[in-house]
Amino acid sequence: MLKVTALAAGYGERKVLDDVSLEVGESESVTLLGANAAGKTTLLKTLIGVLPVMGGGIFFRQTPVATVPPEDRIRLGMAIVPEGRRIFPRMTVRENLQIGAHLRDDVQLEDFDRIFSLFPRLAERESQKAGTLSGGEQQMLAIGRALMARPKLLLLDEPSMGLAPKLVAEVFSLLRRIQSEGVSILLVEQNAKMALQATERAYVLRLGRVVLSGSSAELARSVDVQEAYLGG
Ligand SMILES: Nc1ncnc2c1ncn2[C@@H]1O[C@H](COP(=O)(O)OP(=O)(O)OP(=O)(O)O)[C@@H](O)[C@H]1O
Ligand SMILES: [Mg+2]
Repeated sequence: MLKVTALAAGYGERKVLDDVSLEVGESESVTLLGANAAGKTTLLKTLIGVLPVMGGGIFFRQTPVATVPPEDRIRLGMAIVPEGRRIFPRMTVRENLQIGAHLRDDVQLEDFDRIFSLFPRLAERESQKAGTLSGGEQQMLAIGRALMARPKLLLLDEPSMGLAPKLVAEVFSLLRRIQSEGVSILLVEQNAKMALQATERAYVLRLGRVVLSGSSAELARSVDVQEAYLGG
């Protein structure tokens, strides 16, 4: 689904990612762990195309996309739930969802129904301004908005951030459901324990490089990962 080879990227002259290689398979879910400033958000931004590539390649379903504009990557089937949600507070829930589908010309009522069945709480608040939703509801909206593009690969940047434990569990079980419907997932998370439980494989990024990778179960047992992310 996604193949990243020796990727370098950053800001202006500053290279943040160096020699990053990773893969996400068909219907697979993969966690990306890393301390603050490791380059996780930078990687997702580069994958979706809002940051330019400085070197290396990005292949989405065999197509090289490293120089393809973000809108076209979304048309090809990539979508992102950005760090900090970035919903449009003055627009309604429904309008926010509509924006997620703005690159599609085949949007139907059933697209909204699908999101509302995943997130019943959003259905009840369809006409409410998004800025008046709770933090958890805003996160659901951000995920729902990305799904409106009918992606084949969903990139998520810390979807559990700032949520109460019960909602965190809800977000993770939703991700499993989305994956079971055939969507591949690349998940950036600080909540390492739950992320490793919810995914099949994982990578650890440190100072812009991949320093560990393996099955999620393997990494959950690794001493390095336990010390760095699982509280010893
Ligand atoms: N717009 C920017 N301009 C210049 N440098 C930036 C910019 N955004 C991020 N950086 C730098 O890139 C490095 C990686 O940042 P990034 O946001 O990718 O980290 P992260 O792994 O997502 O961290 P966090 O867990 O805190 O979200 C940091 O050193 C950061 O200061
Ligand atoms: Mg980040």
